[in-house]
Amino acid sequence: MFLCLALLTLLPATVSISPGVKVELTQKGIDYGRQLGIASIQSKLKTIRIPDISGTTNVPAVGKVKYSLSGLQLLDVGLPKSALDLVTGSGVRLSIGDAYMKLRGNWKVKYLKFITDHGSFDLNVNGLTITTSIKIDSDDTGRPAVSTISCSASVGSLKIQCHGGDKWMCDLFKDLLEKFGRKSLEKQICPLVQTAVSELNPELKTMNVLAKVDQYAEIEYSMVSSPVISNTSLVLNLKGEFYNIGKHQEPPFTATDFSMPTEANNMMYMGISAFTVNSAAFVYTTAGILSLYITDDMIPKSSPFRLTTKSFGIFVPQVEEKFPDLPMKLLVKAVKSPTVTFEPDNMTIQAAATVTAYAIQPNATLSPLFVLSLESSVSGRVFVSGIKLAGEVTLQKMNMTLVTSYVGDFRVESLDKIFKMVINLGILPKLNERLAQGYPLPMIGKMKLVSSQLHILKDYMLIGTDVQFMD
Ligand SMILES: *[C@@H]1O[C@H](CO)[C@@H](O)[C@H](O)[C@H]1NC(C)=O
Ligand SMILES: *[C@@H]1O[C@H](CO)[C@@H](O)[C@H](O)[C@H]1NC(C)=O
Ligand SMILES: *[C@@H]1O[C@H](CO)[C@@H](O)[C@H](O)[C@H]1NC(C)=O
Ligand SMILES: *[C@@H]1O[C@H](CO)[C@@H](O)[C@H](O)[C@H]1NC(C)=O
Repeated sequence: MFLCLALLTLLPATVSISPGVKVELTQKGIDYGRQLGIASIQSKLKTIRIPDISGTTNVPAVGKVKYSLSGLQLLDVGLPKSALDLVTGSGVRLSIGDAYMKLRGNWKVKYLKFITDHGSFDLNVNGLTITTSIKIDSDDTGRPAVSTISCSASVGSLKIQCHGGDKWMCDLFKDLLEKFGRKSLEKQICPLVQTAVSELNPELKTMNVLAKVDQYAEIEYSMVSSPVISNTSLVLNLKGEFYNIGKHQEPPFTATDFSMPTEANNMMYMGISAFTVNSAAFVYTTAGILSLYITDDMIPKSSPFRLTTKSFGIFVPQVEEKFPDLPMKLLVKAVKSPTVTFEPDNMTIQAAATVTAYAIQPNATLSPLFVLSLESSVSGRVFVSGIKLAGEVTLQKMNMTLVTSYVGDFRVESLDKIFKMVINLGILPKLNERLAQGYPLPMIGKMKLVSSQLHILKDYMLIGTDVQFMD
C-alpha cells in the first residue's frame, strides 16, 4: 500500500509533459502580490487580543499590590516595511520589518488593604519583525497551492505610557507587560500569518484548470509540473490543450517546450504555443464542424455574382449548358486539421479543404458539378480582449486543383476569383465572428488584465500584462 502511494507520488515527475502554455510572474508581479498579502495580514493582525493580566506582586516599601490590566484594545497596526522575495526552487519568503502596534487599556491597583487607584495606559509595540517562508506547489487538481513552511515573529520594544495615578505604577506595569504582553503577541502573530497564507488557497482554487470554450471545446490549464521558481521569476507550466468537451482525445502531435524571454516590464507574461492553437484546430476538425455549406444568401446582395449555374457558366460554360438556370450550393469541408505556424510577427494558418459544387434541382435534389481540392494560407492577427484571447484572419494565398468534374474538363484557374470571393464573403466572416468572441486565458478569481500587449514570436505568442484583482 505504502509502496503504491510512493510510486504514485513519483509518477508526475517521471512522466513529464511539455507545457503548451506558460505563465510567468515577474518581480513586479510578485510585488503586487506582496501588497495584497500585506493588506490581508494587516487585517488579520487587527484581531490580536492581549488577555487581561491580574495578580499580586510585592513592591518594596508598599508591600503586596493587587493589580489588573484589562480591556486592552488594539488601535492600530502598521506594516510599513515588507519584502517578498522568490526562493529558488521552493517559493517565496515574506519579511516584515519595523512594524508597530498601538494598544490602549485600563489599569487598577489595590495596596495597603485600602488604597485603590486606576487609570488608563497606552502601549506602543515597536520593531516588530515577521519572517515567513511560503512553499508554492501544485495541488492534486493541477492548481497552485501555498503553505507556510516556517514563521517567526519577534517584538522589538514595548513602551507604556500611563494616564492618571502614580508614576511608579507605570514602572510596575512595564515589567508585567514586557513579560506577558510580548509573549502573548509573539504567540499570536504566526498563526494569524499562517491563516492569511492559507486563505489564499480558496482563491487559487478558482483557477480555470478546465475552461469551457463553447459547445464543442474546453481547454485544460492544469499545471503539468511544480512551479519553476528562480530568483527573478515564478513560472507555471500549464498543459494548454484544447479538448472536445467530455472526450479527451490526444492529437497526433505533442507540445515542445519553449523558453520565455527574460522580460520584466509587466507583472505577468503568458506564452501560448503553436501547439495550443493547433490542438484547437484538431478539436474543431474532429468535432466535424470545419465543414460548411455556402449558399447564395451568404453572398452580399450587392454582388453581381450569384451562386447559380448562370453565374458559374460565365467561367465554366458547361455548368450552364448541363444545368441551365439552377441555384447552386457549395460544401466546403476541411480534409485535415489546419496547421498554425508562428514566426516573429507572423501567424500563418495552412488549411486544406475539398469543395463540392452542387446544382439544386427544382425537387431539391443536389446534382454534383465538380469537386475541387483547395489549399489556402491565411494570416492571423491575435489580440487580448478583456480576459480572453481573440483573433481575426485574412486570406493570403489560395491554390485549387480539380479533383473530379461531372460537367467535363475545365481550367480551374478560371474559378480563382470566384472562390477568393466565396472565402472572403462566405467563410472568413463566420470564422472571424467566432474568433472575435475569444478564448479563455488562464485566470484566477476576479482577475483583470491591464495594459496588455501581444507579440508573435517563433513557435509561440507572448502576452505581457499587468493584473488587477477586484474584490
Ligand atoms: C540570481 O541568481 C543568479 C545565479 O543563479 C545570479 O547570478 C544573479 O545575480 C541572481 N539575481 C538576483 C537579482 O539575485
Ligand atoms: C509569414 O509566414 C509565412 C509562412 O511561414 C510566409 O509565407 C509569409 O511570407 C510570412 N509573411 C510575412 C509578412 O513575413
Ligand atoms: C429530381 O429531379 C431530377 C432532375 O429532374 C431527377 O433526375 C431526380 O430523379 C429527381 N429526384 C426525385 C427524388 O424526384
Ligand atoms: C498548388 O497545388 C499544386 C498541386 O497540389 C502544387 O503543385 C503547387 O505547387 C501549388 N502552388 C502553390 C502556389 O501553392
